[in-house]
Amino acid sequence: MKLLVRDLAQVATPPGRGAPIRGTALGDIDVVEDAFVLCDGETIESVGRMRDLPALDGDVAEVDGRGLCAVPGLVDCHTHAAFGGDRVDEFSLRAGGASYEELHARGGGILSTVRATRAAGEEGLVRAVERHRGWMRAHGTTTFEAKSGYGLDRDTELASLRAIRAAGGVPTWLGAHAIPPEFEGDGDAYLDFALAEVLPDAARLAEAADVFLERGAFDAAQARRCLEACRHAGLALRLHGDQFTEQGAIPLAVELGARSVDHLEATGEEGVRTLAASGVVGVLLPASALFLGRPMPPGRALVDAGAAVALATDFNPGSAFCESLPLCCSLAATQLKLAPAESLAACTVNAAHVLGRADRLGRLAPGFRADVVLLDATDWRYLAYHLGGDLVARVVVAGELP
Ligand code: NIG
Ligand code: FE
Repeated sequence: MKLLVRDLAQVATPPGRGAPIRGTALGDIDVVEDAFVLCDGETIESVGRMRDLPALDGDVAEVDGRGLCAVPGLVDCHTHAAFGGDRVDEFSLRAGGASYEELHARGGGILSTVRATRAAGEEGLVRAVERHRGWMRAHGTTTFEAKSGYGLDRDTELASLRAIRAAGGVPTWLGAHAIPPEFEGDGDAYLDFALAEVLPDAARLAEAADVFLERGAFDAAQARRCLEACRHAGLALRLHGDQFTEQGAIPLAVELGARSVDHLEATGEEGVRTLAASGVVGVLLPASALFLGRPMPPGRALVDAGAAVALATDFNPGSAFCESLPLCCSLAATQLKLAPAESLAACTVNAAHVLGRADRLGRLAPGFRADVVLLDATDWRYLAYHLGGDLVARVVVAGELP
């Protein structure tokens, strides 16, 4: 079955085929005015100007694109969507002045979500991830990564990964997110358990592994040990690094050949230079910095230095209760000084690259998966311009209108 989205005000897409995109090329977007997107089943057949639309025979469903723009389905390459409960009480305390790190040190924060996630059961987790996927999709996300990391015991970690897969997400094992209470602060003993008892099964369910390298979480030696074991088990590597303090995350990610290092709010000039000279993608999470009232990551400096950057929500109940990539594009423009074109490439092609899927996702071009976001605007840059706006008119996922 074919699907024709016709009479679009604009089709906007990162050009070319390669990934990741970096440097001045990050700002290049192909824009076709008065345009169509033609999908054949799950795949894009062609994109072009209405006047070049060939005669189509057979069964073709049509979508009226008048007054709308098409951009590639957005790719959220960093979320923590598998959780039970919420942290609205903690949010209220933080609004009154309590700090995120203090709440964490007092057994709140991540560990309070661990309690709620363990209590949710596998069915509860499946429902939660599906609900969160619906929220993301309403904001234009057609592919999402999600991490475990709120179970921290064997059953709940594996149930989280299964729930993410069941909802069509790309699963990442974040076994080293926090030290669960039963290990009484002994990170090495927890890793002994997690690497022996959880990793072998997690490696069959997940595509990548992630570690929270930070004061109060895991140190650089523990992160190295965990990531080396995960690499040996066949997983791609990610790293939460430089969120509050620089603890050597960037050199470690570069040395181990990680796909990405994510957060970077505390990254200094040397970190920027090291990352720019590497193949590791810097994942920028401005909604998290905003939600915690923390400094923003040095997005402009990273792009200018030639680093490959991606943009993601960090959707989670504690540090970024935000599922909207368009809002992240607005924050990237206003806070990180990224042009809308740079943001679009960062949350499409470069995010797809972090997930190992840039050959099929992130562009509106023949052969790519037919994931299309129709924006309620006649200029695609409203993606960043319309701050918190009701911007997404329709979403096509693998050639279907869900
Ligand atoms: O990416 N920093 C570590 N992990 C998450 C937050 C998790 C939470 O607060 O529940 C993050 O910000
Ligand atoms: Fe995160």
